[in-house]
Amino acid sequence: MSVNAPELELRGITKRFPGVLANDRIDLTVKTGAIHAIVGENGAGKTTLMSILYGLVQPDQGEIRVRGELVRFSSALDAIGAGLGMVHQAFKLFPTLTVAENVVYRNEPKKGWFIDRDAAEAGVRKLADSFGLGIDPKARVEDLPVGVLQRVEIVKALYRDARVLILDEPTAVLAPQERDGLFVIMRRLKAAGRTILFVTHKLNEVMAVSDRVTVLRSGRVMADLKTSETSPKAISKLMTGRDIEAVARPSLGNGGEHLLRVNDLGVVDDAGLVRLDRVSFEVQAGEILGIAAVAGNGQSELIDALTGLKPASSGSISLNGVDITQAEPAQRRLAGLAYVPEDRHRVGTAAGGEVWSNLLMGYQRTPKFRRGRWLRGTAVKEHARELIAQYDVRVGSENTLVGTLSGGNLQKLVVAREMTHPAELLIADQPTRGVDIGAIQFLHRRLLEYRDQGRGILLISAELSELLALSNRILVMYEGRIVAEFDAASTDEAELGIYMTGGHLAGAVHG
Ligand SMILES: Nc1ncnc2c1ncn2[C@@H]1O[C@H](COP(=O)(O)OP(=O)(O)O)[C@@H](O)[C@H]1O
Ligand SMILES: [Mg+2]
Repeated sequence: MSVNAPELELRGITKRFPGVLANDRIDLTVKTGAIHAIVGENGAGKTTLMSILYGLVQPDQGEIRVRGELVRFSSALDAIGAGLGMVHQAFKLFPTLTVAENVVYRNEPKKGWFIDRDAAEAGVRKLADSFGLGIDPKARVEDLPVGVLQRVEIVKALYRDARVLILDEPTAVLAPQERDGLFVIMRRLKAAGRTILFVTHKLNEVMAVSDRVTVLRSGRVMADLKTSETSPKAISKLMTGRDIEAVARPSLGNGGEHLLRVNDLGVVDDAGLVRLDRVSFEVQAGEILGIAAVAGNGQSELIDALTGLKPASSGSISLNGVDITQAEPAQRRLAGLAYVPEDRHRVGTAAGGEVWSNLLMGYQRTPKFRRGRWLRGTAVKEHARELIAQYDVRVGSENTLVGTLSGGNLQKLVVAREMTHPAELLIADQPTRGVDIGAIQFLHRRLLEYRDQGRGILLISAELSELLALSNRILVMYEGRIVAEFDAASTDEAELGIYMTGGHLAGAVHG
């Protein structure tokens, strides 16, 4: 071990999966105490590289040095032993155990033969407090929100003396305020001499928190830059090979025909609270109607009521003139409703299935894919190959398991399925969340094309810039009600923000 050696040195790391060169002779040097960002579009090879570093995946070629010493990890335990810790994109905690039990798992402090619960809790509390993580060691994991679970994972790594923390897209699951909290924690860890590998594809995050940034594209290192000497524009170009293009504001809807009519729709939750309060609007053919709202202001209930996941307590919904207020979700699909859900893992896909079966999900009864009781295998797979090509889903083949896809590729898969279904109205809930810049532009173009075919889109997005760029009209929801309607061409983020936060009630706006 040499004193001046970098914390990590990767040389010539290469990893091939069937049909994909995921990592192509990657060199990476990470200095001790640095926050080093790894950026790249979905499928660029970031997770593969981090998994190799953490001993989860074996490289085909290449060397890893930790503080100058050549290492060969055959499992994560080896990597942990060398001072590495990883917080995965999906957390790996036991839901029914407490925070302390999860953190000390396999490193339990003992009192004689038994686990010393008090010592475990005290140890975890001390560690969490020293980095201002604000977690309660006694809390049960299943009761905790995502942002806290992430901090539990961080404490777990620290408890095992991690000098290096690998955070794989940690901000993808966080709300903006939680993200800022994570950055504070990252800076504290850095101040304490820990090294952080921060995987993201959000350039504002790279600029906000990193010291250096390594850009990957198609498994290769495109650049290794000092953050203070580069710009989001330059990084974006390196990531995608393209300049950032602004999405053109759409022309107004060409319709006039009302596809979706929602009248006095109400939703009451299990506790009897009104979550959606007499909401009325319509979506026209050739129109994108945007919904702007801060999370928890009734937009989820609206979507659930429209898709049939929750019953309406009052009012009516009609699609193409057909009343679907009481229809089952499957009947609504047949009536012409397509749906890109916010949580693609929960309702969008089945991780154990292949790409082709996920592309079919919900549409198995389409005559094109059926012969009597049997699926037409050839037609189904051909359809899958077409969609993979058309939607630029980066996978080995249509037989690849969906569980191995990166978030952006999974999103493209769900969008491909929903947009090619012969529906009239698409409900797109956060369609570009967790997706990188190149894929965002691609998905935006697809949404505009869909609208230009004379179909309608109800677009729910936390990204106001996205709503403003794509929508014809924007409705603002606040506390379960629609509180404002704007022509998207004549409003802006500041104005929407006032209504989204209830500012209009405080007298900040008149009229
Ligand atoms: N276990 C695996 N089996 C097959 N292909 C994989 C596997 N893991 C990743 N890939 C493929 O390798 C490429 C890089 O993926 P990944 O490292 O997850 O990218 P990123 O994290 O940058 O989005 C993608 O094309 C992905 O589909
Ligand atoms: Mg990844």
